[in-house]
Amino acid sequence: MIRKFRILDLDAILRIEKKAFPKSPYSRFTFLYYASAYRDNFLVYVQEDMRKGLNKIGGYIIFYPEGHIVSIAVHPAYRRRGIGAELVGEVLKRTKGNASVEVRESNEIAKEFYTHLGFSMQSIIQKYYGDEDALLMIRRGSV
Ligand SMILES: CC(C)(COP(=O)(O)OP(=O)(O)OC[C@H]1O[C@@H](n2cnc3c(N)ncnc32)[C@H](O)[C@@H]1OP(=O)(O)O)[C@@H](O)C(=O)NCCC(=O)NCCS
Repeated sequence: MIRKFRILDLDAILRIEKKAFPKSPYSRFTFLYYASAYRDNFLVYVQEDMRKGLNKIGGYIIFYPEGHIVSIAVHPAYRRRGIGAELVGEVLKRTKGNASVEVRESNEIAKEFYTHLGFSMQSIIQKYYGDEDALLMIRRGSV
């Protein structure tokens, strides 16, 4: 299930964030900023845990209303099950299939992921991450 972020999700999101981006995780403050400034654009994937009867956060996505993806991460234990694609799919539903994202040049998995979802490389943004270039990837058109 995908729903809007709730404050009680924050600790789980921070744990996912540290695993997904160990060198430069977003802080608690950054997530709180997006939760307040972009309430409708911060979504979480809730994974039902049948054994424990609990709902666990499988991943999240933050995006700007026009479809620019700010950040996405899926818990390592839940990867390769289509959760990331579903989260991006929620963005594409709202933007008629138009979206964009910056990707670290070395992030081969993210490049594969976005290519699979119909994004293509638009340009290189030199030293976007300070130590590394970004690829600007865009997607246009129908979902
Ligand atoms: C990128 C990320 C969000 C993908 O999430 P996910 O839920 O595992 O992705 P999906 O299962 O929806 O994958 C969809 C497709 O993307 C591609 N893909 C995803 N992971 C891949 C991998 N490890 N290797 C190669 N291709 C991959 C595949 O084409 C896959 O389709 P398939 O499984 O049918 O072959 C996840 O790997 C992640 O959180 N990475 C760390 C954070 C990050 O790099 N975020 C992006 C920053 S721009």
